[in-house]
Amino acid sequence: MGRKVFLAAVCFCLRWVSALASAAAEAENNFAGIESKFSLRTPAEPNEDVCYLIPGQVNSLAQCNFNHTSKTFVVIHGWTVTGMYESWVPKLVDALYKREPDSNVIVVDWLIRAQQHYPVSAAYTKLVGKDVATFIDWMEEEFNYPLNNVHLLGYSLGAHAAGIAGSLTKKKVNRITGLDPAGPTFEYADAVTRLSPDDADFVDVLHTYTRGSPDRSIGIQKPVGHIDIYPNGGGFQPGCNFGEALRLIAEKGLADMDQLVKCSHERSIHLFIDSLLYEEKPSMAYRCNTKEAFEKGLCLSCRKNRCNNLGYKVNRVRTKRNTKMYLKTRAQMPYKGRSYLLITEQDWYLCSAVFLGECVLQVTILLLWCLLVGRSEVYLQFGIKCKLKCRLRRPVPSYSRYGGGRSNTKREVFCNKLLSSKIKIYSVAWSLGTTGLSMFFQYFFIQMIFFSYYEENNQQSSA
Ligand SMILES: *[C@@H]1O[C@H](CO)[C@@H](O)[C@H](O)[C@H]1NC(C)=O
Repeated sequence: MGRKVFLAAVCFCLRWVSALASAAAEAENNFAGIESKFSLRTPAEPNEDVCYLIPGQVNSLAQCNFNHTSKTFVVIHGWTVTGMYESWVPKLVDALYKREPDSNVIVVDWLIRAQQHYPVSAAYTKLVGKDVATFIDWMEEEFNYPLNNVHLLGYSLGAHAAGIAGSLTKKKVNRITGLDPAGPTFEYADAVTRLSPDDADFVDVLHTYTRGSPDRSIGIQKPVGHIDIYPNGGGFQPGCNFGEALRLIAEKGLADMDQLVKCSHERSIHLFIDSLLYEEKPSMAYRCNTKEAFEKGLCLSCRKNRCNNLGYKVNRVRTKRNTKMYLKTRAQMPYKGRSYLLITEQDWYLCSAVFLGECVLQVTILLLWCLLVGRSEVYLQFGIKCKLKCRLRRPVPSYSRYGGGRSNTKREVFCNKLLSSKIKIYSVAWSLGTTGLSMFFQYFFIQMIFFSYYEENNQQSSA
């Protein structure tokens, strides 16, 4: 009898041990499949892989000084021709640490898989995403590290890897930022194999190089997040043309060559870095159905969440449908330009005529005042930069005669009408003065009024 019990106990024990062993083996297998490496960068050496966090090895976290109470950024690079990190990596790491000094910035190294032929590397995003998800789940299970503290940032192919990672973790990560997610092989792919809004509590995306037909475009064209921002229309970025590239080479040599080749694609990263570094002046993007409507100045409104900050301090607005947003930027950092209303030359003449007829005196006073307080700069539609800027403190000249009123809504409606009607009035403008000089001044004055006008308008309506 006693022997039987003993045998049963041994049996049970053996089973239990073997179950434990196989569980351990399984866990080990889980981690053994991981090929990606997780480098915890430091503020002092943003460029160096000094310490790796190794899934399954608890002490690696302590060794790398992982801070359990602060947030974690996980940066995932994209396809690489050289098999090396591109020059933006340390720049982004550095900017993240500048903005959040206590955070943990982890760079995922999947360079070996990322330097294959593009389709091969594109297919590897699944495995990379799985690696990242396993790593994150391990942190969550092992240390109760809250996934609410995790923000994934992926560039190009890395954006889709981040999306896949987000879809595989057992709990949802807080945020994924897609920096110009890759287009080829993803444009028409199922949501599960690419970045999509379900992959995190909040998914924001910057589209900066979506030129060409959808299957050719380097960056994915369709919206894939909760908020999708298309700076400068999303197709091509200012400062990325050939002449500009030559100028940069002349200035800085070939050091940042990789940046030039993928100028527009990579602009997404630099816009995000910009939002980290220039906290006090976030660029505003505006919701609009099409790029054309935005360029006509029809969407420069902040009411009802129609505008949002680009980058780090985005407001988390989640709608059922994807939200497409637009803005104009400058060609260099700081990228923040000013939203303006005047788009075509034709519109320009129209507005000049209407306003100059009414407020010649006010404009003159304004100009004098601007000259006195003139600071910073205005970025003009026609590529002219002038050193003169001023903010209009007082309401814009009255135009009640033209159907405008004092309220912002009425002003907006008025201006939208004015601009969309597009009456040809070259002749009117011309009659105000045919000399080049007076035309120049009309341009100049009115542009200023409109700049100030919209800035002011938006501040009021967002308050
Ligand atoms: C960890 O981060 C917290 C803020 O999240 C900070 O107060 C603390 O000093 C950090 N610890 C270390 C050891 O850096």
